[in-house]
Amino acid sequence: MEIQGSSAIFVGGASGMCRAAAAEFAGKGGQLAILDLEKSNGAEVAEELGGKFYPCNVMDYDGMVEVMGAAVEDLGALHFMVNTAGGAVGQRTLKRDGTRHSLDDFRRIVDLNLIASFNINCIAAEHMAKNEPNKDGERGVMLNTASIAAFEGQIGQVAYTAAKGGIAAMTLTMARDLGTLGIRCMTIAPSLFDTGLTAGIPDEGALQLTKDAAFPRRMGQPHEYATMAIAIFECPMMNGSTLRVDGGQRFAPR
Ligand SMILES: NC(=O)c1ccc[n+]([C@@H]2O[C@H](COP(=O)([O-])OP(=O)(O)OC[C@H]3O[C@@H](n4cnc5c(N)ncnc54)[C@H](O)[C@@H]3O)[C@@H](O)[C@H]2O)c1
Repeated sequence: MEIQGSSAIFVGGASGMCRAAAAEFAGKGGQLAILDLEKSNGAEVAEELGGKFYPCNVMDYDGMVEVMGAAVEDLGALHFMVNTAGGAVGQRTLKRDGTRHSLDDFRRIVDLNLIASFNINCIAAEHMAKNEPNKDGERGVMLNTASIAAFEGQIGQVAYTAAKGGIAAMTLTMARDLGTLGIRCMTIAPSLFDTGLTAGIPDEGALQLTKDAAFPRRMGQPHEYATMAIAIFECPMMNGSTLRVDGGQRFAPR
């Protein structure tokens, strides 16, 4: 797909990796909409990047149909959807005091990461299916965000692991579901990245958490996610995979 002349929605685009992807996309001539929580600084980011801000909460599943519909109507079409909205809870299967992991907390994390991502993908696919295919038969690209925790979640990350593992697992199936329409589906699984989500981690802690990476032994930077996001959009052969962007990092159990 070519960025020039394409339109994109960035869900979680007010901050971190998604903001960097939006900036890269805008810089290469794409039209965009920033979707994020009302309390975020999405309006400033959208203005800076020449797009419009649409407040949303990805857990309001019906509301997302309306918000994404409004954004696509304003943009005229949807060719690229990037979603990073998500989060974790720290809790063990059996807590230190012997009580069980809260089922409500587990469900909330699955709802926020997995169910919301699936919902956003279904809505995006519905819009992309209306596009005229380009010369390669492509109609659009959907990019989700898992985590390397999907494959090696650390102690206390069971809900997050299940949710992100679900995102990784549905990627190929969704790509196959949508293949005849020329819609691709990819997932990036980052290691530790320097974003709003990890802003509270002190430098010393970040060094400790990335010491097992092959190279580089540091947190990833948002623009490094953006580089991959753009490559995924532009390369028709990128489909149905979960791409680790992790400097060769493998998590220890804790
Ligand atoms: N930063 C990391 O180290 C790291 C590593 C692996 C995976 N991830 C994944 O990346 C995503 C977070 O991205 P980031 O690291 O750039 O963080 P970030 O906090 O900088 O950006 C995330 C954005 O998502 C928005 N958001 C959160 N909940 C939302 C909701 N319910 N509805 C709409 N918007 C919502 C936030 O307001 C924020 O602007 C999460 O899915 C997280 O699991 C992050």
